[in-house]
Amino acid sequence: MEALQLAPPQPPLIGSRRPCVAVPCTLSAPTKGRPRRPLVRATLSKQTAEMSPLLASCGNPSQVSMSTPPSSQQPLPRVSTSSLQYPPGYLGAVPNRTAAEWAGYNIIDAMSHLTKILSSKVYDVAKETPLQLATKLSERWGVNVWLKREDLQPAFSFKLRGAYNMMAKLPKEQLEKGVICSSAGNHAQGVAIAAKILNCSAVITMPITTPEIKWRSVQRLGGTVVLAGDSYDDAQAYAKKRGEDEGRTFIPPFDHPDVIMGQGTIGMEIVRHMQGPLHAIFVPVGGGGLIAGIAAYVKRVSPEVKIIGVEPADANAMALSLHHGQRIMLDQVGGFADGVAVKVVGEETFRLCKELVDGIVLVSRDAICASIKVI
Ligand SMILES: Cc1ncc(COP(=O)(O)O)c(C=O)c1O
Repeated sequence: MEALQLAPPQPPLIGSRRPCVAVPCTLSAPTKGRPRRPLVRATLSKQTAEMSPLLASCGNPSQVSMSTPPSSQQPLPRVSTSSLQYPPGYLGAVPNRTAAEWAGYNIIDAMSHLTKILSSKVYDVAKETPLQLATKLSERWGVNVWLKREDLQPAFSFKLRGAYNMMAKLPKEQLEKGVICSSAGNHAQGVAIAAKILNCSAVITMPITTPEIKWRSVQRLGGTVVLAGDSYDDAQAYAKKRGEDEGRTFIPPFDHPDVIMGQGTIGMEIVRHMQGPLHAIFVPVGGGGLIAGIAAYVKRVSPEVKIIGVEPADANAMALSLHHGQRIMLDQVGGFADGVAVKVVGEETFRLCKELVDGIVLVSRDAICASIKVI
């Protein structure tokens, strides 16, 4: 497949080419006394570059094959990460929406999302985390950059919010039969903690290649760890089958309305805690649960705030799906940022992102390492 490069380059999205860090963070007004620089220049409906539709653009048929996605029987086009690349600091994968479409964002959906986020159960277990000014980054960029400190949650991750919200809403009889999930990361820990608090049994399946330190940490939280399959997909297939056999409810890492709305409480907190104007929220994207939840809240109460996804250049499944207007499957995914190394984004998360997200920034592995140092 030919690489689809963005040319000519667009003006920088933010006042620097440095990418945002891999935690939800927010940008507010420029630091006092510093020159004002435009924060976001993207428009809602404009593509960053002309690109041909998916299959028409794939000159080499050997690189386009159809695969069955994990969550449905619909075959998905397989594409390579290199087919959509643009430099750090540029906005791409801007959904092709007109202002009228934007204004018409399904009001019933919107109200139901707001209600579900406002009434979500996450605070039985999760904390309201602070927004912290990232002083070095703010200095360097000449804008105020705020970090949403989800690393202060139990098990150091926001994933607990969605997992707990879904599990707490299960009918008692279903909860008594237990839950099951597949994850080698933060979702596994979230499910284990939620199960402990709700007093239900949780089986967590992980690929047999999972490092001991990871599965031990889930075991310590009370989850029953089962190592199954060589890959994440194999572990997930095992979990779904075992869930059916034992009557356990499968808790997906991102593609479920209750999981998404649980993550949406982060958007609610950002809006509530932010002092002063808020221009944009940058959100790391894996399967899309976090960004879809944040967008579902923020676009309803502050539609002027840009919601921008951040993906590793070699794990750009959401950027490619938005670009093509349909979900795609990556033929390969880079695992450096393992929490967001996802080949296929969720069905429901994609539907919401198509309606609500303003575009995606891609970051290189080097840029991720460098930004960790700056923080
Ligand atoms: C630290 C971190 N950031 C972002 C994400 C992406 O979340 P989602 O899959 O909901 O897009 C994950 C997923 O596990 C994560 O662990």
